[in-house]
Amino acid sequence: MRVGVLTGGGDCPGLNAVIRAIVRKGVQEYGYDFTGFRDGWRGPMEGDTVRLDIPAVRGILPRGGTILGSSRTNPLKEKNGIRRIKENLAELEVEALIAIGGEDTLGVAARLSDEYDVPCVGVPKTIDNDLSATDYTFGFDTAVGIATEAIDRLHTTAESHMRVLVVEVMGRHAGWIALHSGLAGGANVILIPEQRFDVEQVCAWVTSRFKASYAPIVVIAEGAMPKDGDMVLKDQSLDSFGHVRLSGVGEWLAKQIEKRTGKEARTTVLGHVQRGGTPSAFDRWLATRFGLHAIDCVRDGDFGTMVALRGTDIVRVPIADATARLKTVDPTLYEEVGVFFG
Ligand code: F6P
Repeated sequence: MRVGVLTGGGDCPGLNAVIRAIVRKGVQEYGYDFTGFRDGWRGPMEGDTVRLDIPAVRGILPRGGTILGSSRTNPLKEKNGIRRIKENLAELEVEALIAIGGEDTLGVAARLSDEYDVPCVGVPKTIDNDLSATDYTFGFDTAVGIATEAIDRLHTTAESHMRVLVVEVMGRHAGWIALHSGLAGGANVILIPEQRFDVEQVCAWVTSRFKASYAPIVVIAEGAMPKDGDMVLKDQSLDSFGHVRLSGVGEWLAKQIEKRTGKEARTTVLGHVQRGGTPSAFDRWLATRFGLHAIDCVRDGDFGTMVALRGTDIVRVPIADATARLKTVDPTLYEEVGVFFG
């Protein structure tokens, strides 16, 4: 049997660990052959392949990024996208496809499996941890670790200058990275997309910290919005590839804090550094287990299925369960963490 593998969407530490586990178990235990597809759904759509065998996956476990490349190509939005995929899979004799990706990539896999008779297995990935049906996605732990280390470092420079430091982390729709890194790094304010924030209240917290002779750290997710919403809508834009770019909420907030509190403020935007580099041990562990279970789904002919983490077990769920709605931060959890604000 020949199995195709692709990675789609934003890259994420742990992708190579999944690929390695799939190929090693597939070759050694089941005698499968593999075809790697380049750049997400663009690969099967254009018949663009990469050699994927045991030598190709040697030494990639600790490497960030993906040896297959990635893109946000969506065949459902391309002319004859699905037909081209089906033709290429037939020509390459690929009988099953493992799609490793987030909401968009898996959304395509679900429809291909359910509506177009293309046998797909899904593996969830995103540093944002916002996919439903799995407790965690790999990449998240690494991103939180990087953001936490940055916050630890920013504390000392904030204290030396008695400045406010605003740290903008990734998270367009969900504040998981902000919440976890902010709590772990001892931030004084954490602002997330799920709850619009009140600038006056943020400034009151900042002022109260200075009264206690302490330079405050504000962690803000890139998708967080102030209550009036004016600024963020103005700064949202589409780049030339049609992707939404969120920029500027951290910088905007720092300016508001300076204006309203009279305290000096600086912004650090962590950006793609959160997605780069070597995966944490937890992410390697989770990614490897996902890969081992994904190839078992192929062996069992269990298509339209995604592997997921429930507690400490890897389970199988319909791919559509993960993509139907995003997993966002529960208000109760945010409130619980809020005891440290101010
Ligand atoms: O979905 C993962 C993510 O890293 C988001 O947190 C972020 O908003 C987005 O990708 C950035 O996308 P790009 O790499 O296309 O700029």
